[in-house]
Amino acid sequence: MKLLIVNGPNLNLLGIREKHIYGEADYETLCRSIRSWAEELGCKAELFQSNHEGAIVDRIQQAYSDGTDGIVINPAAYTHTSIAILDALKAVQLPAAEVHISDVNAREPFRHISYAGMACEAHFIGLGFDGYRRAMEYLCAHIGKANPEA
Ligand code: DQA
Repeated sequence: MKLLIVNGPNLNLLGIREKHIYGEADYETLCRSIRSWAEELGCKAELFQSNHEGAIVDRIQQAYSDGTDGIVINPAAYTHTSIAILDALKAVQLPAAEVHISDVNAREPFRHISYAGMACEAHFIGLGFDGYRRAMEYLCAHIGKANPEA
């Protein structure tokens, strides 16, 4: 089973940006945690981070034909603006789970809308890095049930 983990703009600056919101740990630490959770779950995790909307759309499209079974996505600021990322997720028809490190619903009103979330079947919001682990667990359990061959 292969999961694609997509992180959007400025998440490469974790550990530097707004530490009171996103915490002290950096992006590399997040990547290491994701790799070790994947090992525990017995799945493969491919990590992708980009600051560019089109690159994220391209990577999601690639997932359609590269053997990806599910997508964990934190589209960061593009969550609240990008219909292109929503459409890409709908197009590839892979099970997807949305993650936000912070509780976007308790922040500014413009963060309350999630376009990408409309194509996701599960949402892990405001749980810090643990949201990625929960999303991976969810997809592994769900894909296992929906498609015993995966
Ligand atoms: C975020 C929340 C977004 O509103 C913000 O633009 C981010 C990170 C989060 O993980 O909490 O960059 O997606």
